[in-house]
Amino acid sequence: MAPRPKKASKQAAAEFTDEAPSRNDAVVATAMGDDDARLDLTLRPKTLDEYIGQDEHRENLKVFVEAARMRKAQLDHVLISGPPGLGKTTLALILANELGVAAHTTAGPAIEHKGALAGMLTKLEPRDILFIDEIHRLTPVVEENLYPAMEDFKIDLVTGDGPHATTIPLNIHPFTLVGATTRTGLITGPLQSRFGIVLRLDFYTHRDLASIITRSARLLGTSIAPEASLEIARRSRGTPRIANRLLRRAWDFSLVARQSEIDLATARRALDRMGVDSAGLDEMDRKLLDILIRFYDGGPAGVETLAAAAAEPRDTIEDVYEPYLLREGFIARTPRGRVATRRAYEHLGVKPGGRTSSPPSQGSLLE
Ligand SMILES: Nc1ncnc2c1ncn2[C@@H]1O[C@H](COP(=O)(O)OP(=O)(O)O)[C@@H](O)[C@H]1O
Ligand SMILES: [Mg+2]
Repeated sequence: MAPRPKKASKQAAAEFTDEAPSRNDAVVATAMGDDDARLDLTLRPKTLDEYIGQDEHRENLKVFVEAARMRKAQLDHVLISGPPGLGKTTLALILANELGVAAHTTAGPAIEHKGALAGMLTKLEPRDILFIDEIHRLTPVVEENLYPAMEDFKIDLVTGDGPHATTIPLNIHPFTLVGATTRTGLITGPLQSRFGIVLRLDFYTHRDLASIITRSARLLGTSIAPEASLEIARRSRGTPRIANRLLRRAWDFSLVARQSEIDLATARRALDRMGVDSAGLDEMDRKLLDILIRFYDGGPAGVETLAAAAAEPRDTIEDVYEPYLLREGFIARTPRGRVATRRAYEHLGVKPGGRTSSPPSQGSLLE
């Protein structure tokens, strides 16, 4: 009996990262590096007032938190979706802080069986938050066992093995489940319907990102010129985590140049050195556009095809690259696949039809 939970919790800690471990060094890297973990500790806002941007969600949450406190009851279950680095984990931790309860964090793939889930649920104190990152990756069995816990704060505890197994219904303390996912489309209907509060985080405006960068610089013990913050903000793909990473690199450059403040020229130099172009696209973004334009004549090409050609996991393309390229109008989605837009051609300096190397027949492009 004893080694089991030990193994599970070890795994939970190890697996509790945002995304697959790869490309730690890239600007848009999906995995969190050590650097990010350290930055998170310093830079994560701890209250809703410190949380910049996403105004509507923030103001609504303030009301829901206040109401829960007045009722002396747990907050309704919260589902937060959005691309990596937009502040989902931050928000979950803020909610616990604002409610004055503990946050217990885990991730979908780390909950290996329903026993592990029961172990977590029975440990919760009244009104605590259970934060499940990557909640779309729960196994169907674990997910089904979560339903009665969410709805009635009840679980079925199984003791014994095989034919001797008995099920004991058990009441648990009322709690708040906060689930995070990169895409709501990945959540099953029954799970989604059990969340009272559903928040879709959107990419941040340049103005909000500039405020985040200025705040981060202050917390790191440096300062940054307003035009330099704005330049980094414009090139951060609407994502606070990327903004903080780029700020950190710009700070390196300004330190080495013995400057007391990060100025525009230094910020630009750092961004260029990091391979972030004027539109905020990084190497992989440009590679994807290049593949689409050069090999697939601008598309349509299916996401599998692009993933294979770019040697990048399909999930990463769908969660990280595509949302921003779509939103900025570099690619468009059609029923037959992704197509490059005029903006993509212009950005890469390619004339439509110009650089195409004998495209494969249309049929093979469609998925
Ligand atoms: N609204 C915000 N205001 C200020 N900083 C933010 C905000 N959202 C995210 N951040 C910063 O970005 C980093 C990444 O956020 P995180 O919550 O880990 O993203 P996610 O869980 O969505 O991948 C955090 O360390 C935090 O410092
Ligand atoms: Mg997270």
